[in-house]
Order: sequence, then C-alpha cells, then structure tokens
Amino acid sequence: MKTKVVKIDRARMRDSQLSEAARILREGGLVAFPTETVYGLGANALDQEAAKKIYAAKGRPSDNPLIAHIAREPELETLVQGISKAGRTLMEAYWPGPLTMVFPKSGAVPYETTGGLDTVAVRMPGDPVARRLIELAGVPVAAPSANTSGRPSPTTADHVFQDMDGRIEMILDGGEVGIGVESTIVDLTGPVPVLLRPGAVTLEMLCAAVGEVAVDPAVARPAAAGQKPKAPGMKYRHYAPRAELTLVEESEWEGQPGLSQKAVSPRVVEAITRRALEKMARGHKVGIICTEETRQRYPAEAEVRSLGRRGDEEAIARNLFAVLREFDNLEVEAIFSESFSGERLGLAIRNRLTKAAGYHILRV
Ligand code: TXA
Ligand code: MG
Repeated sequence: MKTKVVKIDRARMRDSQLSEAARILREGGLVAFPTETVYGLGANALDQEAAKKIYAAKGRPSDNPLIAHIAREPELETLVQGISKAGRTLMEAYWPGPLTMVFPKSGAVPYETTGGLDTVAVRMPGDPVARRLIELAGVPVAAPSANTSGRPSPTTADHVFQDMDGRIEMILDGGEVGIGVESTIVDLTGPVPVLLRPGAVTLEMLCAAVGEVAVDPAVARPAAAGQKPKAPGMKYRHYAPRAELTLVEESEWEGQPGLSQKAVSPRVVEAITRRALEKMARGHKVGIICTEETRQRYPAEAEVRSLGRRGDEEAIARNLFAVLREFDNLEVEAIFSESFSGERLGLAIRNRLTKAAGYHILRV
C-alpha cells in the first residue's frame, strides 16, 4: 500500500484538504492525523473491520481497547449508556481537550473497538484539524497513538511515517503536536472517578472540577502478578525505546514528590556520569536525558539531550518522546535519565518515563 502524506496548512485550513482523508475513514480505511496530544491512527469506530485494521497496522494486541474520538457532544450519547454527573462536569470543564473518559458502552460500539470490554473510552480532541476531520468523516473515529505497538508515541508526522509507511492509506501532516504526551484517562463507570493514565488535564485539575478522584495503582507501579490494570494498555511495556533506560533520582524523593522540582542534586549528575562512563568504556553508545540546568555537566562523548528547563513541564512533556525516538535512530544502547517530580503535568512525565524504563529506577 502506498501511504500518501498530505501537508495541512493550519493558517489556511480548508475542508478540501481534509475531504479525501474523511472519505477514506468513512470507507473503512486508515488515516493518521494530528491531535493536540500525539498523532492518532484513525479508523471508523463503528466499523469492526476498520478497527481490526488498526490492530494489524500497529501490531497491537487485540485486547487493548481503542479511544473513540468525537467532534461534538451529542455524538457521545450514541456511544455510551448513562453519563454520570462527574462525567458531565468534566466534559464541560475540559472538552474539547486532552481528556478521555470511560463510560459503559452502547450497542453501537463493536467489541473490536473496545477490545472486548463493555466500556468505551471517548475523547473530544481540541486540535482543529482532528475535530474537522472527524466532523467531515461523519463517524466517531477510533484512534490509538499512531506508533508501532510498544514504541514511543509519535509527536510529528515524520515519526508516524517511520512506523506506518506502507501500512495505512494516508498521513495528515499538521506539524509538531503541542502537548506531546497522550490524553488523561478517567474511568467514570464507578461511584468515584478513577485516574487511569495521567496527562495534560492533571489530577489537580480533575480534583478541582469534581472533588474526589482515585488513582489507579498502575499509574505509579507495575501491576502485581495476576492483578489487572484497568486500562489494559498500561500492562504492556509502553513508550519504550529500544535501549535499556534507567531513571536516576535522589532517594529522598520517595514519599516527597515535591522535592527537587527546581534542581537536580549533584549526586544524581555524578551517578549518571559514572554509569555512562562505565558503559562507554565498554564500547557502548550511551544517551543521557537531562534538563537545561545540567546539560553542560555530563560527558560530551555521550548523546546528551535536554528536554527543557526543569520548571518548564510543558517543554519536557513535548520533547520526551522525540528524544526517545532519536535515541532509537542513533542506536543508543543504554539511556540514563534524570527524574521528575510527580505533580501537575510532572505526573504524566514521570509515568511515561517509568514505563519506558520498565520501572527500573535507581535511587542514589
Ligand atoms: O492522547 C491520546 O489519547 C491519543 C490520541 C491519538 O488521542 N490516543 C491514545 O490511544 O493514546 P492509545 O490507544 O495509544 O491509548 C489508549 C489507552 C490504552 O492504554 C487503553 O488500554 C486505554 O486507553 N483504554 C481504551 N479504552 C479503554 C476502556 N474502555 N477502559 C479502560 N481503558 C481503556
Ligand atoms: Mg499508545
């Protein structure tokens, strides 16, 4: 299959730029498109054959459910049964935007889309390209991140091309995304909303809107043997670079997530430097993930990448996946990363980094 790449001029966006993509979606094909979080790999969410094509293109296990994307609120009614009060409040506060909500599914949604679950995850993206595309398609669009299963999510059309060339009909190139980590997922099927995946609608923002919000244990640590995380996607080694990644942080961080928000201690810099030098002495290629404040302190022979200033969580989130992909392309063999505190957007950054590290955290 030849994959067509269509550049979208955001300043002068016209329906004619999106109409072919919308037709492909309507006819059961696959189109990758930008959203404000990461690029999505879209298909008609109500068409079970189209949903199956997504799993094939990504190499994704078919028990890992997809998020249905909508352009307008009334579409939600056709996908779900019963919207709780908290659901309505969150919708009003944060839609359109980087928030996905899980509801009991309606009969219209095929089990191929929900990975066999009786619930469905729904999101109304804020990106104007994504929303207009969904609107023109006239169907809800199932869209996981447009990466090969297990690789870091794509934040540019070029990332999508690396993974999906020849596997899908079209890629809409809308430039680099704004947020860079996937949407927040909240389960609204129980009495208390449960955070399943942290994102740019932060835990603090959720609590401000609805009061009590529980946090699924899988957000912070791997599910124990036999324990099933509520978002099935959280059980797979996710966001993973090919190299082994070690997260290095100060031991005092345990239980005190606010600490060291502004500075990384010399102990962390020393520990990363020592390990990087050891690996390099054995002929390995090493990548180091750090922040502006420390980048000059690491050995120049390593591939040293700063994600941004330590206080600038938006920049850190936006750059994280691109750096992991760059390390893949450079065939880096070992990655050492500074750590980040788990507040606000930092919770999402930390969640993605610990997953990429396979929960391998070195405390010094
Ligand atoms: O920001 C995003 O959400 C992006 C863009 C494209 O919108 N999409 C995305 O999709 O990240 P994906 O498939 O990569 O991640 C979806 C996550 C998975 O962890 C999946 O297990 C979970 O959502 N999920 C989907 N449906 C669910 C459901 N009914 N119950 C619980 N978790 C669900
Ligand atoms: Mg994904």
